[in-house]
Amino acid sequence: MLRTKIAGIGKYLPDTIVKNDDLQSVMETSDEWIQERTGIQERRYGTKHQETTTTMAAHAARTAIERAGITPEDIDFILFATLSPDYYFPGCGVLLQRELGITKTTIGAMDIRNQCTGFVYGLATGDQFIRSGMYKNVLVVGAEMHSMGLDYSTRGRNVTVIFGDGAGAVVLQPTGEADQGILCSKLHSDGTHAEKLAFINPGAHGGYHNRYLDEPVEYGYGKETYGGIFLTEKMVEEGMTYPYMDGPFVFKLAVQKFPEVIQEVLQEAGEDVASLDMLVPHQANLRISQFVQRILKLRDDQVWNNIQKYGNTTAASVPIALCEAVENGAIKRGDLVCLAAFGSGFTWGANLLRW
Ligand code: UT7
Repeated sequence: MLRTKIAGIGKYLPDTIVKNDDLQSVMETSDEWIQERTGIQERRYGTKHQETTTTMAAHAARTAIERAGITPEDIDFILFATLSPDYYFPGCGVLLQRELGITKTTIGAMDIRNQCTGFVYGLATGDQFIRSGMYKNVLVVGAEMHSMGLDYSTRGRNVTVIFGDGAGAVVLQPTGEADQGILCSKLHSDGTHAEKLAFINPGAHGGYHNRYLDEPVEYGYGKETYGGIFLTEKMVEEGMTYPYMDGPFVFKLAVQKFPEVIQEVLQEAGEDVASLDMLVPHQANLRISQFVQRILKLRDDQVWNNIQKYGNTTAASVPIALCEAVENGAIKRGDLVCLAAFGSGFTWGANLLRW
């Protein structure tokens, strides 16, 4: 039976370490608050004017490609998950193709806009491309340069203290090995509460989505305006161009959906939590991962956490954590591994695989 294996994996974390105390110098927050509520001690920021989401992705991708024993020219398809793309368009997929020096035009490149679940969705999509026989080497990347788009005033503190920059990548290939590869994936979405965790402006909503907000918002559109409403002066002047999150609302749903979808993939594959060698959850908040661990009755050595060092890197968090666990010898050939994520949309999902 043809399955999809992760043939190579890589990660990239930029050099600059931003500690909680560094954030305390620009906004009203404290190391104590951040550690108690999120477990985060520090995060990495990319170098402005030198690094972007794409360049960080390229570092991770080159490592994954090398470890898969291939060259960039062997890549057939790129799946790029990010919420902090270099440009509004074109997407980062084609920018990464260029950055890797892939000149052949027979490949395809696609961007995935699923925020925290982007990598899990990407892995499930790449798996289908491989198993259908359409492609032999699919590059799946999750990368974020959050630091460019955060509100560093006290108003944005609940969001800003959480996020960090980084990238992770895998090369997917077909395998005939019975004890290796992606066993199954489950993907979910519920758009009911889309604005509870969202980066709305700039956007082509034209105010239309106001009817879904708890409070109506005036974006500064002129009555006679036919164009130029994607980004208004009012949005910029009043700092409306930042991510918004109703933290407690998101927290409550996350601790419910993570265990559900993890159980779902285990059940589909005829496995149970006791046989799970490693759960690699999206690093949203250490308290969320600990909650999930308690609900599923997992031991400490069955869950990989690294949010303490890197913060929440959204689409990059799962591949970075998976790569780190593999590099540390915590995941070995044949291990049963579950990747799971929940985030904006809301979307959530999981992949179950034998390493
Ligand atoms: O990865 C995508 C999915 N995202 C998540 O899963 C995040 C889920 N949510 C969370 O992780 C938590 O809700 C947060 C860490 C974001 C916030 O923690 P919380 O315990 O839910 O705090 P809160 O938002 O209820 O705020 C409690 C208090 C408020 O002050 P008042 O109104 O009680 O006076 C906030 O203004 O904490 C205040 N606060 C802060 N204080 C110091 C919020 N952020 C900060 C901060 N430093 N950074």
